[in-house]
Amino acid sequence: MPISIKTAEDIAAMRIACRLAAEVLDYIEPFVKPGISTAELDRLCHDYMVDVQGCIPAPLNYAPPGYAPYPKSICASVNHQVCHGVPNDRALKKGDIVNLDITTIKNGWHGDTSRTFCVGETSILARRLVAMTHECMWAGIAQVRPGAHLGAIGAAIQKQAEGAGYSVVREFCGHGIGRHFHEEPQVLHYGKGGDGPILQTGMVFTIEPMINAGKAAISELPDGWTIVTKDRSLSAQWEHTVCVTETGVEVLTLSPGAPPCPPHIRVTP
Ligand code: MF3
Ligand code: CO
Ligand code: CO
Repeated sequence: MPISIKTAEDIAAMRIACRLAAEVLDYIEPFVKPGISTAELDRLCHDYMVDVQGCIPAPLNYAPPGYAPYPKSICASVNHQVCHGVPNDRALKKGDIVNLDITTIKNGWHGDTSRTFCVGETSILARRLVAMTHECMWAGIAQVRPGAHLGAIGAAIQKQAEGAGYSVVREFCGHGIGRHFHEEPQVLHYGKGGDGPILQTGMVFTIEPMINAGKAAISELPDGWTIVTKDRSLSAQWEHTVCVTETGVEVLTLSPGAPPCPPHIRVTP
């Protein structure tokens, strides 16, 4: 399957799904406090998406080949969990970091975004990892323009992450998105700037680096979904869905609560 090019109409529809996904994160942020469980956060987000926004939580029962249906409506990955953490009844505690990953379906179109939150007061080390991973995501976004190689995104992210002494998870990547949750291309968060296809106006994909404080290696928990760092070091992730414009990039998953692009990173709209 080639990389699909979205029409102006398609993109208008995706803007809606993407904004809704971002607004779920705005909604849930005040609840992310010591004492709440990730299952409770899942329930709150599920009800908000279904009852308030009138959209479908894409993760619920999502079953890519080789996977059991995903049992919850959001992913919640705590501390050394890298991604796809399955919400459970354990309470979050002060000092944890937790990534909440929201994917909505609205009128048949997907929007996918995640943020990593600090639970109460966290260590300087954890805050630095979270902030640096956010910067990595934006360093990748800043590469997006028609004519650029897809590989420029991963190269920029890897340089930023490894320059800070961190490592980039290799096994999971960003992805094309549209009528389907996961489409081509695969958007690597590492690699050579000249690799990969040339970006064209109308391509829509996610950029979602997973950055580990320790080594890059990961393992999968017996639940068949939750991914953790092999060395149990902290891991953070941020995700936006972006569209290649005539001149640069449009970030579709923005909302009032989304932290802005760091001022030293220049993004061309
Ligand atoms: N939202 C994740 C991503 O960014 C995918 C989660 S798949 C699920 O691609 F089934 F775990 F929800
Ligand atoms: Co994604
Ligand atoms: Co996601």
